[in-house]
Amino acid sequence: MKVLMVCLGNICRSPMAEGLLRDLAAQKEIGLEIDSAGTGDWHQGEPPDERAVRQMEMRGHDISPLRARQIQTEDLNRFDLIFTMDASNYQNVLKLAQTEAQKQKIRMFLNEAWPDQNRQVPDPWFGGEEGFEQVYFLLERACEAFLQKLEP
Ligand code: 4NP
Repeated sequence: MKVLMVCLGNICRSPMAEGLLRDLAAQKEIGLEIDSAGTGDWHQGEPPDERAVRQMEMRGHDISPLRARQIQTEDLNRFDLIFTMDASNYQNVLKLAQTEAQKQKIRMFLNEAWPDQNRQVPDPWFGGEEGFEQVYFLLERACEAFLQKLEP
């Protein structure tokens, strides 16, 4: 299964989600292909924000090799599931969808842990370190809930 994590800049939330899901899936020996992208193009080619790298590193995950890219319409064919971090990302990805099948792939990621609540991962870009810690714990809950459904 191929999973794409999407946020706005692809330097904070979605690379954290990508790295976390990749490591947790590997621990559980669940085969997943995982990538991330942003709806915006301002940070293309850049590594994740240093606060995101640091937060992940403190918890045993290395996301420093990841590089930002903007989501492409082709991603809606290539991936089986597209998880968005907030309602704005969700609406923007939905605008790229051309078929009903593509629309069905797009989900709010936190609904994995808190079904139907449409909870959002807050954008930590303008805040301090505690925002990144909060993002980490929200993503961890959603990753665990998603992987639990895939376990045999
Ligand atoms: P992200 O955070 O969407 O979690 O990667 C942001 C990164 C950059 C900007 C906004 C949000 N920005 O405005 O450049």
